[in-house]
Amino acid sequence: MEGVINKSIKVNKYHVKNRIVMPPLVCFNWGDDEGFEIVSRAKHYGDRAKGGTGLIIVEATAISKDCRITDTGLGLWKDQHIRQFERIADSCHPEDSVVILQLVHAGMKSVGKNVYSSSNVEVKDKECLEMSLAQIKKVKEDFVSAAIRAKKAGLDGVEIHGAHGYLLSQFTSKVINKRNDIYGGSLDNRLRLPIEIVKEVRAAAGDDFIICYRFGVNDPTLEEDRYFAKELEKLGVDILNVSSGIGAENITVPEDYPFSPITYMGTEIYKEVDIPVICVYGIKEPKQAEYLLENEMIDMVAVGKGLLADPNWTNKAINGEDVNVCFHCSPWCKYGKDGKTCPWYGK
Ligand SMILES: Cc1cc2nc3c(=O)[nH]c(=O)nc-3n(C[C@H](O)[C@H](O)[C@H](O)COP(=O)(O)O)c2cc1C
Repeated sequence: MEGVINKSIKVNKYHVKNRIVMPPLVCFNWGDDEGFEIVSRAKHYGDRAKGGTGLIIVEATAISKDCRITDTGLGLWKDQHIRQFERIADSCHPEDSVVILQLVHAGMKSVGKNVYSSSNVEVKDKECLEMSLAQIKKVKEDFVSAAIRAKKAGLDGVEIHGAHGYLLSQFTSKVINKRNDIYGGSLDNRLRLPIEIVKEVRAAAGDDFIICYRFGVNDPTLEEDRYFAKELEKLGVDILNVSSGIGAENITVPEDYPFSPITYMGTEIYKEVDIPVICVYGIKEPKQAEYLLENEMIDMVAVGKGLLADPNWTNKAINGEDVNVCFHCSPWCKYGKDGKTCPWYGK
């Protein structure tokens, strides 16, 4: 059925078949301490691909052992990790979904007692020290090596995690980054690390490999975000996935704006660049996605918890059927706890 959702869009050399994106969603407690899955992801992602999702962004995956978000998260810091991502690619590609992988360094939010960030930061129960230039160089190399492994696994690209207060946010943010060298101070200096990573991943992975950037907004201001978005576009980033940054709680939204502040920032970044932009947050029902697309407020819409609650969300939206509407369990997504206790399962 033709409609705003079911319209293809070009991302790099790929024609993504529709406008719905599965944003990265960690499957908590589905892995071991070495970055390997203990619960297979192939069916989990394959089901969302079968359900019609155009673009799937596989969950945050650590580029080295010492920078993980959780101690059960996936890793891609060694060749032995490649096979688990091959299985994901193989389960999604036959359904004609484009599939990329989010790569992350958690910086001061990494598991462990001794962690590193752009600067010395006070973190509860941890010692967080400023990264040396040698450590920064290693971070860049690790992003590149993981991206090459993602390519070997048959994935169509990577998303570099620059949001949610993880390492790259900690470099771009004026609040955290107090460095006195070329990686701190002016805006261009604070953007240097993510820019170098994008450049090096592009050089190593080639022009036809999708590079998406998970963009953290209000980090610290929308004006700086606009500049950064344009810089990423100039560098050849293929797609921006706009989410929260370190200053996200201070976003002001026009009174009659019908979506969340994070969605709002996505629709603002969309106005700045010509590459595809994804917005996210709280989009539970197809009519919300249709509104954003119909009114040309965004290129693509990410449905996170909605796709956990209903793997067939996209096909149902395209066919005008009712979806399982996520209950937004509080304080934390019950699917996200273990993949089993979402109220929609067993119904
Ligand atoms: C269980 C769970 C896991 C998540 N994991 C990630 C992740 O790996 N990387 C990331 O950038 N965001 C992650 N997020 C944030 C989502 O990508 C998304 O931005 C957020 O859920 C808001 O969208 P929604 O309201 O459609 O769910 C996660 C969110 C949840 C609920």
